[in-house]
Amino acid sequence: MNPREFARRRRQLMRMIGRGGVALLAAAPERVRNRDVTFPYRQDSDFLYLTDFPEPEAIAVLIPGRDHGEFILFCRDRDPERERWDGERVGTDGAVRDYGADDAFPITDVDDILPGLLEQCERVYHTMGTHPEFDARVIGWVNALRQRAGAHAPHEFVALDPMLHDMRLYKSRAECSAMRRAARIGVAAHRRAMQATQPGMYEYEIEAEFLHEFRRHDAVPSYQPIVAGGHNACVLHYTRNNARLQEGDLLLIDAGCECEGYASDITRTFPVSGEFDARQRDLYDVVLEAHRAAIAKVGPGHHWNEPHEAAVRAVTRGLKRLGLIDGNVQRLVRDEAYRPFFMHRTGHWLGLDVHDVGDYRVGDQWRLQEPGMAMTVEPGIYIAADSGAPKAWRGLGVRIEDDVLVTRDGHQVLSAALPVDAEDIEALMARAGR
Ligand code: GLY
Ligand code: MN
Ligand code: MN
Repeated sequence: MNPREFARRRRQLMRMIGRGGVALLAAAPERVRNRDVTFPYRQDSDFLYLTDFPEPEAIAVLIPGRDHGEFILFCRDRDPERERWDGERVGTDGAVRDYGADDAFPITDVDDILPGLLEQCERVYHTMGTHPEFDARVIGWVNALRQRAGAHAPHEFVALDPMLHDMRLYKSRAECSAMRRAARIGVAAHRRAMQATQPGMYEYEIEAEFLHEFRRHDAVPSYQPIVAGGHNACVLHYTRNNARLQEGDLLLIDAGCECEGYASDITRTFPVSGEFDARQRDLYDVVLEAHRAAIAKVGPGHHWNEPHEAAVRAVTRGLKRLGLIDGNVQRLVRDEAYRPFFMHRTGHWLGLDVHDVGDYRVGDQWRLQEPGMAMTVEPGIYIAADSGAPKAWRGLGVRIEDDVLVTRDGHQVLSAALPVDAEDIEALMARAGR
């Protein structure tokens, strides 16, 4: 992404903070996986959004002022010895040259330099709770100033996230194009999985198709893929992915990838054999109807909950048609009779975080959808093996999930290139010559 995009975001945030404020943000720490091995590093989403800076052990300081304000970065120094082992570091010169910092200092000097910067400010904007060790340091710096005779200390802590997360909710052109790319690669991986699936394979073999497709496009999974054959589909966050796929089963796959930090999050459910049986097809079509009804409620002017309300009505009507619940539809909706079978919401914001930031309500009202907001639409029906449903239905789970962008005149389904009609899925699987 163009460095100007990050500079624009910093300027916008500093305008909101105003003179006398200072924003402090920390890079995500590295996490140990085992002994001296770390998990693959992922930058903190807020930090990434404002800096594009890829390394741990960094602190960003934004000080609004005349012109466009100041962006100061504390980061790791260059270190030839360490770089021989772990690869090149950006260093302070690189932070100024490549990341738009007005000034940069070694992170080891932060305790000496940062209090002097805070002394000029009245309000400290900071997000509590994401990185507790950083929270303690911020409080420590301010308290030390308050106790130092003759020093001026900021008198107020202000939550940074309401402003910053509201900004993140509206995706720019560059963000939309990263999300389109994440969706495109996600779609290609799902197509590949549909074509590769054969009875007798293991769930992890299908997971491998996703990893291959993601990595060959320089993307990484945006969350642990859910590859759930048969009744495993009824475990919403199933990630063991180690069961054998049976001829007559459905396979639910919820997998997406991340490009430049932006996630896709896509689910399809299809028959291992390549053909839905009558009962699977009936259930699938109910979920598809709910999915379509929900997507129709994505667009400017609709409120956040309208897609969910539409999905709930369609799922309830469908469950009644299938004989899984009985009664007056309006009353069934009111009494949430669908909940044993549809226990999650129909979507969430999507962006740098899979479950992206941004409020769903404003005061006591659902938020209105506006152009640039991105969300998933993902109704599902799960009939657990131990549910009271008639035996023939037990163990079936279906979810259909697409990524949808609110546009000026409606919406765009970013993952629309992936077959969703039962016939289209069967045709794609048949074409694979399975
Ligand atoms: N993959 C997580 C979700 O669909 O929300
Ligand atoms: Mn998902
Ligand atoms: Mn989702």
